[in-house]
Formats: sequence, structure tokens, C-alpha cells
Amino acid sequence: MKNNKWMFKRVLVSVLLVLSAVSGVSAVWAQYPDKPVTLVVPFAAGGPSDKIARDLAEALRKPLGQTVIVDNTAGAGGTIGAARVARAKADGYTLLVHHIGLATAPALYKKLPYDTLKDFEYLGLVNEAPSVLIGRTTLAANNLAELRKWIADSGGRVNLANAGVGSASHLCGLMLQSALKSKMVAVPYKGTAPAMTDLIGGQVDLMCEQATNAVPQIEGKKVKVYGVSSKERLSLPSLAQTPTLAEAGLADFNVTVWHGVYAPRGTPPEVLARLNAALREALKDPDLIKRQEALGLHLVTDARLSAAGHKAYVQAEMARWGKVIKDSGETAE
Ligand code: MLT
Repeated sequence: MKNNKWMFKRVLVSVLLVLSAVSGVSAVWAQYPDKPVTLVVPFAAGGPSDKIARDLAEALRKPLGQTVIVDNTAGAGGTIGAARVARAKADGYTLLVHHIGLATAPALYKKLPYDTLKDFEYLGLVNEAPSVLIGRTTLAANNLAELRKWIADSGGRVNLANAGVGSASHLCGLMLQSALKSKMVAVPYKGTAPAMTDLIGGQVDLMCEQATNAVPQIEGKKVKVYGVSSKERLSLPSLAQTPTLAEAGLADFNVTVWHGVYAPRGTPPEVLARLNAALREALKDPDLIKRQEALGLHLVTDARLSAAGHKAYVQAEMARWGKVIKDSGETAE
């Protein structure tokens, strides 16, 4: 009899310990976030990735009730910044804002310091941005037909700027060279902001840049525009007359750059749910919507805002771009 009583007490204590441990854990995460959240951008400040991250940080402050800061970790086409978040503490305070490069790096880099599908929790796809083919104002060509002739006559000595192997500008450049059947000289930068400075200065000839960064320069007549990479023309007044690259003769040319938000694998489910809810609320922010649409960008409102939808989309993009990259023969160390 004495033994049973002792055993019952032991079991009761263990159950209470487990319950308090569990409630203790959820109690800890229930306070999340109780300090600033960092959005890591894997490109230099001032570029399209940096811009969407800063706009997002602004729109997340209210739903998270916390300061949200942006920290740039640039280099190697975005892979250095992505690796930083893959290795970060899984506590919800270090997140990644990255674009199509997260899906294409596995096909480009022989030794990638992270696994796109295994090392991240997917928090949702945020926006979609068309790219535009732009050139220095000193180029004589004023349309794609004249540009194609200049490229053909240049014997491959065309300097094509990008933000590093695997960047959106690099991928768009691969598609351009394959569509034109013309190899160009890749000029890599830590982001397309510094690349844009050199294009405006005439140090490089062309770049395939996201509309985010290109629209203000086109409107300011700092660069020439030859076509948009989207299936449809942009509805922006300053680009309404600009043909799509497909319409201008590069059949099937379709490059849409997208940005998503990620946490390190193993981030607690309570934190992931809190972050996804805050992201959904932020994307309804009228100011964010207005700023994105003024640049020809679209915020995502469909199933890709869910973790499952976001991950499925990235997997499909990995397959789509894997073929383009394989055909291009491009790789990186
Ligand atoms: C890219 O080309 O990947 C991006 O435009 C880089 C950036 O956001 O700076």
C-alpha cells in the first residue's frame, strides 16, 4: 500500500513538472518579440532587396509591436547573407529577406554554405518585381533592335553589370545572353545599387535590373530603357511605351523577381505563427502597397503567403531555373 502511494506521488510530480515546463516554454515565447527583430538583406544598401526590406520593416513595426531593423550582409550573389541567417539562433530575432537567388544558388554554387530547403523556415512570399533591360545613356541604340545590332557588332565586348553570381540581375543577364546567343562580360557588384552608379557613370554598358531601382533612374533619364522582362507591359506612365522583351523579339523572355522572408530552421512554431500573422498584416499596409505599386511591383496576397505555399513555390522555381542555369553552363565556387 505504502509503495502505491509513493509511486502515485512520483507520477504526479513528474506530470506537474512536464506541464510547468511546457507552459513555461509557451509563456517564454508568448512574450515574443520582446527585443528588436533584425531583417538581414544579403545585398548592399540602396538596392531593390534593401528597399523592400526597409519598406517591410516599417510596415512590421506596428503588428509586431517592436523595432524592426535592416542589416546588410552582402557578397557572393546573396549567399553570404543567407548563410548568416541559416546559422543564426532560431529565436525569431534574426530573419532573412531574400529573392529568387535563394532558389537558384543551389544550381550555381558547387559548395553552398546552406541548404535552401532544409535550413530555413518559410514565412511567406512578399512581392513580385519585373526587371528592365537598361543601358548607359551614351549608347547610340534607342531600341532593342538597334541594341541587338550593337551587341552583335561588339564581338562579346559588352559589359553587363550584376549583383554577383545568383543575383536576380545575373539570372536575367543569363537569360538575355541565351536569348541573343551572345556572350557578354559579367561585371559583378555587391548589389545593384553600386552597379547602377557605374551604369549611370558610363563605366558599364547594360544591366537587367529590378523595376524597384530602375524606374526612378529611367524617369530621371539617367539610363536608357530597352524592354521589360514581364509578360505584360508595366502600367506605370513612365514605362507604358516600353515594350516587353518578348514583344521586342526575345520570345518567351519572362523574368519575375520575387522576395520572401525566412527564419532559421528550428524557430519555435509559436514564433513562426506570430511572424506570419504580422507579415500578413504588414502587406495590407496602404502606404506599403502604394510605394510598391508606384514602382511597378505587386505584393503577394495568395497562398504563397503561407509557409507551405511559399516553400512549394520556391521548389518550383528551383526546378525552372535549374534548367536555364544548366543550359547556360554557368557555375560558381
Ligand atoms: C539582384 O540583382 O539580385 C538585386 O537587384 C540585388 C540587390 O537587391 O541589390
